[in-house]
Amino acid sequence: MIDVLIIFGPNLNMLGTREPQIYGSDTMVDIMSSLETQASRLGLNISMMQSNDEGELVIAIQKACITARAILFNLAAYTHTSVVLRDAVAMFDGPRVEVHMSNNYQRESFRQISLTAPVSSGAIIGFGVDSFLLGLDAVDRLLDGNGGKDQKS
Ligand code: DQA
Repeated sequence: MIDVLIIFGPNLNMLGTREPQIYGSDTMVDIMSSLETQASRLGLNISMMQSNDEGELVIAIQKACITARAILFNLAAYTHTSVVLRDAVAMFDGPRVEVHMSNNYQRESFRQISLTAPVSSGAIIGFGVDSFLLGLDAVDRLLDGNGGKDQKS
């Protein structure tokens, strides 16, 4: 059993060159490296994955149901569209924290709807790369406390 599966959704593999005015210049590998450092500071055993494919992301969450104590995820554009990923997150019985680098509420109206936030323990939005690190802190606190179970919908 790992402590946290960290999931990067579609197009996040292009961070660094993708719309840097919105997402900054750090690459996904840079973010993963910062998360590794933060995880060892917190004493968390993490695993990370990225996929552009909705089905692969569903399978990753299904596997996490039996292999991970918590999930931290940025499902990127699927956040706003995917009922299957919403159902997968809802089925995960443990801390499940959504993150977004940009502040979706300052952007297009279609980004202001998250199908996954209502079935998440909580969401951290708008702090750039720090959203991931703050998200890992949140997961750590939930794992130390009540496991986020009292907030499950
Ligand atoms: C994002 C916001 C989404 O609307 C967008 O599709 C992304 C990135 C973010 O981290 O700000 O790909 O999830």
